[in-house]
Amino acid sequence: ANEGMWFLMHIKRLNYVDMQKMGLQLTPEEIYSVNNASLKDAIVQFGGGCTAEIISNKGLVLTNHHCGYGNIAELSTAENDYLTNGFWAANHKEELKPKNLSVRFFVRMDDVSKRILARVNDEMTELEREAAINQEIAKIEMENNEDGKYTVSVKSFYNGNEFYYFVYQDYTDVRLVGTPPKSIGKFGGDTDNWEWPRHTGDFALFRVYADKDGNPAEYSEDNVPLEPKYHLTTSLKGFKDNDFAMILGYPGRTNRWMPGAGIEQNTNYAYPAWVEASRTSMDVMEKYMKKDQQVNLDYASSYAGIANYWKNRQGMIDALKQHETAKTKYADEKSFQKWASKKKNRKYAEVMPIINDYYKKTNEISRHDNYLRLLLRTRSATIPYRLGKSLEYYAEQNDAKKEELRPKLETEIENLYDGLHLPLERDMLAAQLSLYNEKAHNPASEVAEIAATNGNKVEDWEKYLTTSFQNSIFQSKEKLNAFLDNPDAARLQNDPLYNLSIALLNRYRYKSEEQKEWENDFQRAYRLMVQGMRLQNPDKKYYPDANSTLRLSYGKVNSLPVDERNDAKENYYTTLKGTVAKYQPGDDEFDMPKKLIDLYEKKDFGQYADKDGHLPVNFLSDNDITGGNSGSPVLNGKGELIGLAFDGNIEAMAGDVIFDENLQRTISVDIRYVLFLIDKLAGATHIIDELTLSK
Ligand code: ARG
Repeated sequence: ANEGMWFLMHIKRLNYVDMQKMGLQLTPEEIYSVNNASLKDAIVQFGGGCTAEIISNKGLVLTNHHCGYGNIAELSTAENDYLTNGFWAANHKEELKPKNLSVRFFVRMDDVSKRILARVNDEMTELEREAAINQEIAKIEMENNEDGKYTVSVKSFYNGNEFYYFVYQDYTDVRLVGTPPKSIGKFGGDTDNWEWPRHTGDFALFRVYADKDGNPAEYSEDNVPLEPKYHLTTSLKGFKDNDFAMILGYPGRTNRWMPGAGIEQNTNYAYPAWVEASRTSMDVMEKYMKKDQQVNLDYASSYAGIANYWKNRQGMIDALKQHETAKTKYADEKSFQKWASKKKNRKYAEVMPIINDYYKKTNEISRHDNYLRLLLRTRSATIPYRLGKSLEYYAEQNDAKKEELRPKLETEIENLYDGLHLPLERDMLAAQLSLYNEKAHNPASEVAEIAATNGNKVEDWEKYLTTSFQNSIFQSKEKLNAFLDNPDAARLQNDPLYNLSIALLNRYRYKSEEQKEWENDFQRAYRLMVQGMRLQNPDKKYYPDANSTLRLSYGKVNSLPVDERNDAKENYYTTLKGTVAKYQPGDDEFDMPKKLIDLYEKKDFGQYADKDGHLPVNFLSDNDITGGNSGSPVLNGKGELIGLAFDGNIEAMAGDVIFDENLQRTISVDIRYVLFLIDKLAGATHIIDELTLSK
């Protein structure tokens, strides 16, 4: 069965026999070993939210274009626009260092459930429980970080029923080596995002640098490419339908235990708010991004992030309703309730009623929270709050202390205002405030007051904010620096943007006493529900929900039912022929570089074509992954790289709360397409030479 995101340390006991039957040829130790180099040493978490893999003995890192998107945009200017035109470093010297980018290697993990659970008891409130657990976690982190060499993270699994610690090593000097133009890396844009058949060259290359001893080091010209413990072999051999495929990576979040009532809360309250507020921001951003290429680059990454989940959340609403997922969950809960009503399971008898009651009480709150959450992604809504507290403190100090504090504040201001476009910010904030005040359940009272006086139409807010920006020191970094010259705490306290920002963030953090109580009861009930359901089904093999820890998922290359939009022979792959069929010259999403069309017309595919002479582009496998797995390697039975995972299909969007064997697919770039683009399109043959190829 292909369901499951497994811990590497459990594979040997839980999955190995099954994996071997399906085609795995490696030993468990070749996948995960604490003392010897193994596959796990080639898998890194990239930039905190994605996955990547090491593919050469010189620290070459392969990940998705959409994972490097923000870094590529940041390194681009309207004149040197790598996002639009692509970029290829001819040698190490030309590789480009983005401001903040790190990769995280996984060293080892272990189970600390017994140790942590020994600190808690059933009489504790959830807050007391959390405090006791955090105390023990701090100790475990201290004991394992080897004087700061490693980062140690202890996380809860199965909703607080088990705990594992993870030891990592972080490298912070990571540089861009090469990227295709956006017309390849994001071919199909938001129209094709989350869809199959797909034709995207979603990859980019980076390199990890270290000091001369191979240790992590801040950026320096003296740093050298990292010689990794292990790097992947890249396969040119291709694969066919039903071949074994496994994926190692960092899935972000799943909620496979989510109760039916939670699903209904999301589909009816929380997600519709998310979708509407996202669309509101996207409309404003689009208007300004179209007009000015620099604005386009400055907001590219935040737009893509919002657009990605705008489509995802609508897809989830549709899929969850269509499959009546809540009903499936209610049926499980009914059988659980029956089990829980038995005398010996009394501890669990009240669990479901408490959970259902909680969702009933928090439906409107969940709607409010998502409107506000999306509003707060407008940078001008949060910057005044973030800076204001430090500025107030600064204003109260004597001259010597001010002198000392100033450089740090100046850097912070510089960073926060870098690439901030005020007209866009004002209009986005106006649109969001108007929506929030109209649609959210119980919006911040300050916002309601302003609307009552000035009106709640978008234009009313634009007018109000135009004046506010003019009267605010947060209008520009020039005004902020002038404030640093002549600080005046009273002026700050009357600053309209500062006060608005405080009101919004206070509302975001506010919880009534009643609400805190509901949450306490809910958290406890949810933990017991998961515990109880596992006891109810003692023979079932369980895997923990995704929470940004390293997992392995195994399955096979697997078609979807025939789709007339795909012109490949079978519906588990696409080819460059299909890409060209989607080509729309000059279109924002479906344009293609002329050179790629030329290569297609000459059939100049080199060693990368399949047996029939087609150039493979994307393919499907039935692995269980989610957001955060982006950039993960797809490996064959020998552990060789055959592709790069980058998406899931919209039909299976219910996957984060329920796994559907028949529908759930991973969409990946075929590694042969990646190599073809590096070799034939970019002419970067020195990179091909750097790889370990299996032909
Ligand atoms: N849906 C993908 C994910 O969340 C991101 C794809 C980015 N591409 C795009 N066209 N927006 O992993």
